[in-house]
Amino acid sequence: MSSETKHKIDACFSPHLYPVYADAESIVVVIDVFRATSAICVAFHYGADKIIPVASVEEAMQYKQQGFLAGAERDALKLDGFDFGNSPYDYMGDHVKGKTIALTTTNGTQAIEAARNAYKVVVGSFLNIDVLCEWLLKQNRGIILLCSGWKNKFNMEDALYAGAITEKIFDQSDKFTLGDGCLALKYLYQQAKHEPIKFLVHASHKERLSRLGLKKDIKYCLTPNQAPVIPILEGKYLVKLKL
Ligand code: MLT
Repeated sequence: MSSETKHKIDACFSPHLYPVYADAESIVVVIDVFRATSAICVAFHYGADKIIPVASVEEAMQYKQQGFLAGAERDALKLDGFDFGNSPYDYMGDHVKGKTIALTTTNGTQAIEAARNAYKVVVGSFLNIDVLCEWLLKQNRGIILLCSGWKNKFNMEDALYAGAITEKIFDQSDKFTLGDGCLALKYLYQQAKHEPIKFLVHASHKERLSRLGLKKDIKYCLTPNQAPVIPILEGKYLVKLKL
């Protein structure tokens, strides 16, 4: 296959940079390993019907007041008055089954908002990595790995995951070329993959979550394939892609 017919995978390190990477054809994978996209995968794995990702706390509260379940997190803390925060453990159990849940988080739902008009927007985490890569490989499209980062800054765990996706896809197919962002993250992942927790030891959000006593969340969010579902944006809703 000539390079002209290949599709590009690239990594965007922050929602603020997304307009520079956006195109009308590519699939966007939104990534917020700690913890929004991990929590979203878990909610669908436990049977949630829809998630309404919203940028502001006010919007999430409006949904709550209309009778929806609602999750809200800022600076890694659950906000008062909401049903859930942003821990994957909040979304495990029958209480989410069949429910529509509004969700706002510091970074993850902002990244979804930034990419809303893309050709397709799907949600990625280590929890769904294999099923997502298998699906991406079948799509014959360019891929933009949109890292949510932290308040529009680069972060290590999203970069690590983008590197993991890149390696998995690039090793299994000759249909892709890599943008420089992806190339860098592929090398990063090669350094980190045998001991990801050790690699992330000084990562800012890992330290933040550790300070808050959330080491259990960190470990879980780095454990591959615990929630093999693909959340996809359809209009204002995230739904579980039928495979
Ligand atoms: C976010 O969306 O900002 C993060 O997932 C923060 C968190 O860990 O709760």
